Amino acid sequence: MARETVFNRRLNRHRDELKWLYCELYEGGAEYFEELCRIMEQRGRERDAKLKRLDKKREENPEWYKGNDMVGMMMYTDAFAGNLKGVKKKLDYIEECGVRCLHLMPLLDSPEVDNDGGYAVSDFTRVKKSLGTMEDLKDLADECHRRDISVCLDFVMNHTSQEHEWAVRARAGEQEYRDRYFFFDNWDIPSQYEKTCPQVFPTTAPGNFTWLEDAQQYVMTTFYPYQWDLNYRNPRVFNLMADNLLNLANHGVDILRIDAVPYIWKELGTSCRNLPQVHSIVRMLRMICEVVCPGILLLGEVVMEPAKVVPYFGTVEKPECHMLYNVTTMASIWHTVATGNVSLLRHQMDVINSLPREYVFLNYLRCHDDIGWGLEYAWLKQENIEEVPHKKFLNAYFTGNWPGSMARGELYNDDPASGDARLCGTTASLCGLEGALDQQDKAAADRAVDCDLMLHACMMTLSGIPMLYSGDEIGQLNDYSYKENPAKAADSRYVHRGQFRWRTAANRGRKGTAQYRLFHGISFLEELRKTYRVFLNAAAVRTSDTHDPALLCLVRELDGQKLTAVFNFSGERKTAWIDEPGSCTDLLSGETLEGRNVPMPPYGVRWMLYNE
Ligand code: GLC
Repeated sequence: MARETVFNRRLNRHRDELKWLYCELYEGGAEYFEELCRIMEQRGRERDAKLKRLDKKREENPEWYKGNDMVGMMMYTDAFAGNLKGVKKKLDYIEECGVRCLHLMPLLDSPEVDNDGGYAVSDFTRVKKSLGTMEDLKDLADECHRRDISVCLDFVMNHTSQEHEWAVRARAGEQEYRDRYFFFDNWDIPSQYEKTCPQVFPTTAPGNFTWLEDAQQYVMTTFYPYQWDLNYRNPRVFNLMADNLLNLANHGVDILRIDAVPYIWKELGTSCRNLPQVHSIVRMLRMICEVVCPGILLLGEVVMEPAKVVPYFGTVEKPECHMLYNVTTMASIWHTVATGNVSLLRHQMDVINSLPREYVFLNYLRCHDDIGWGLEYAWLKQENIEEVPHKKFLNAYFTGNWPGSMARGELYNDDPASGDARLCGTTASLCGLEGALDQQDKAAADRAVDCDLMLHACMMTLSGIPMLYSGDEIGQLNDYSYKENPAKAADSRYVHRGQFRWRTAANRGRKGTAQYRLFHGISFLEELRKTYRVFLNAAAVRTSDTHDPALLCLVRELDGQKLTAVFNFSGERKTAWIDEPGSCTDLLSGETLEGRNVPMPPYGVRWMLYNE
């Protein structure tokens, strides 16, 4: 059968490497490897004809997701439209936002409380009842594909909820299931892990282990106590999780965001992060997908500094993730908003720009998580900036506790021991819109919108895929209602996970409102971005001197097309003393400018395209 041949051809291409990696990780695992092959074959057979056609199309055009028209948006199904059927009904709006890739936050079955916003999955084969069914998911994905929108879903692979069937059986004492997690009779080994393994949630969920009174056992819980770490030393865990991943792919999911991936392999005496075995596992997942569903992409969630992130792309011969988050750039952008000094951001841009252009980064300003201040402190030292006091300053600035700051963020996991705290809040609230509205300061509100738009323009100037956070397109503010919900009150990330305000969104049609300016401003940027080839990933990008600490200049060049972008990170009028001579048109204002002495309005942006 022709179908069989396609599968075998793909399997044959990867079989040796896959088996080699598998048996290296799982000594004597040949039998389990055969099981994995059966799973792949089964899922391959199940994959429907439409998806197979899409696979074929994408195999023929492996660059399909790299276009300058690619814009993503991440959202919570319930906050946006109640359930999956609701999201389907709202696809017109999503299209109106210019979105070509829809990232739906975790929607698989998870407990009512103790679910970490869906990141504690209790059944990987079912959608959470209140959100719909697997058929609804398939149906939504189908409609998205019809509209040329791809769907991204989290694959929460590091842990399961304590209510997952495996966890329940493990707790009850079934050895087979205990072997899928990390169980210990006493504190001896856990205490050794604790010596080298840092904490993810030092305040909201201290420690990496949880004592189960009923079972008289410790279980490893790197994240929340109700999220039990899976043991990937057990080949069954790997096989069954691969099966779960393929099942999601067969429901039309195009992009799998492999959640918290650096954490999936644990080793005593290490930090239990980014171990070499993690890369073997990601590489294997990549090959498994290329065999069964080559149209799908892996997006790695690696919230670390560039040196740790980049290895997750793998190599040209042995690729791992297709896409990774540009997390340090995101944090550096916010640092720049607070300091009004672009030197670190410029340095960060130079680091990113020196990487191979094949790498695809997902650029973002805000997401469902907090902002961790993972900046390059070694570099900041030369500017006399020290880590602990600087984090204090950033947090003071973004919580509005700094002279002149209108920002309204909330602290997250404020750890008195390390003096470390992270930060939550929506883009608009962090840009000062909420504070300005509170104080009925019209001029400050306009400035906040200018700043917000400037940040979006900056994100869209970077190579890669811009990922909007739902609500940001209408300047949605913080939502404090989570404080009234005992299950959420301790987790300030919910401040930026509020209900989507459809009434406010309606203002996007009313000139003079913040919603109008933001919505149309962002749409205009997207339009320009997809019109000019210079925004393609293939462009060479560099920074250029502006001789002003508040001004960042990025130059993009491709096939003779040149664009000089300038961003003003201050609320003052400035001049960019750039030396990029030539007559240009500022695509944003339509003005004709010379690539020298460029006047910059407060929080202004220039996208200057050189005239032929
Ligand atoms: C990822 C998610 C975060 C979640 C954690 C544990 O980092 O982005 O929201 O809490 O994984 O699953």
